[in-house]
Amino acid sequence: MQHLKGRVAIITGAAGGIGTAAAKRFLADGAKVVLVDRDEQGLQKLVRWRDPRRVELCAADVTQAADTKRYIAAAVKRFGGVDILLANAGIEGEVAKITAYPEEVFDRVMAVNVRGVWLGLKHVIPAMKKRGGGSIVITASTAGIKGAPNMSAYITSKHAVVGMMRSIALECAPLGIRVNSVHPCPTETGMIHRIEKAFFPRDPKKGRERMLATTPSHRYATAEEVAAMMAFLAGDEASFCTGGVYTVDGGRSAT
Ligand SMILES: NC(=O)c1ccc[n+]([C@@H]2O[C@H](COP(=O)([O-])OP(=O)(O)OC[C@H]3O[C@@H](n4cnc5c(N)ncnc54)[C@H](O)[C@@H]3O)[C@@H](O)[C@H]2O)c1
Repeated sequence: MQHLKGRVAIITGAAGGIGTAAAKRFLADGAKVVLVDRDEQGLQKLVRWRDPRRVELCAADVTQAADTKRYIAAAVKRFGGVDILLANAGIEGEVAKITAYPEEVFDRVMAVNVRGVWLGLKHVIPAMKKRGGGSIVITASTAGIKGAPNMSAYITSKHAVVGMMRSIALECAPLGIRVNSVHPCPTETGMIHRIEKAFFPRDPKKGRERMLATTPSHRYATAEEVAAMMAFLAGDEASFCTGGVYTVDGGRSAT
């Protein structure tokens, strides 16, 4: 069943591993999608599998209000409105103890992972109101539930979006707009491979072993497993789900 048929979904960070899997899944479920990323070349690569009648590409930086308004306007212009926002764009920052953590990297991580999400919500809600409701899904992380050393900016940012999700879910419940967050454990994408390398530059396999040791299912998630949860929350089967934290983590957050 195409449970997102006729829905219009904006996906940020669409050129990355999880965003691309979500785009494919939402399309398979019948949605029309606006794919947003600052990586224009990466977006163009998606042309290979896209169905041009149901896909719009939009190169944009989620940290910029003008770009945010532009990607929402693109959805309204091309498809007549917005029903779903997957606020997924994110960066990992650096691996370093707080005393050595570069201030500008902290600011950049907060700009993309927190301000970028906040701007998306701020500007999409009026468009969703016009449709009589909608669903917002924020990609957080198990890093938004648990602490870990040496990634203070990333972990701070992912905890921050949980507070944002809860507070905006309360604001939006009377409007029929649901807001939830998805919390994957390490997932097979470019991001986790960069993190493995940052922890153990000479032997990234050690980083993987370290991460698997704290994941009871003893493997990383696939981007498709994460996208399946996103598609569920985006659609009507999740009609009474709002303000919730949804893990896709092989038991990691239960430890
Ligand atoms: N991969 C993991 O292990 C993992 C685990 C938990 C949560 N996450 C989260 O999932 C989301 C997607 O990550 P991923 O694993 O697909 O990583 P990725 O690096 O493959 O993709 C991230 C995408 O975001 C885009 N992006 C970054 N800054 C942007 C900006 N300012 N404006 C627009 N686009 C921007 C990048 O160009 C990239 O295409 C992120 O929020 C990440 O924190 C990832």
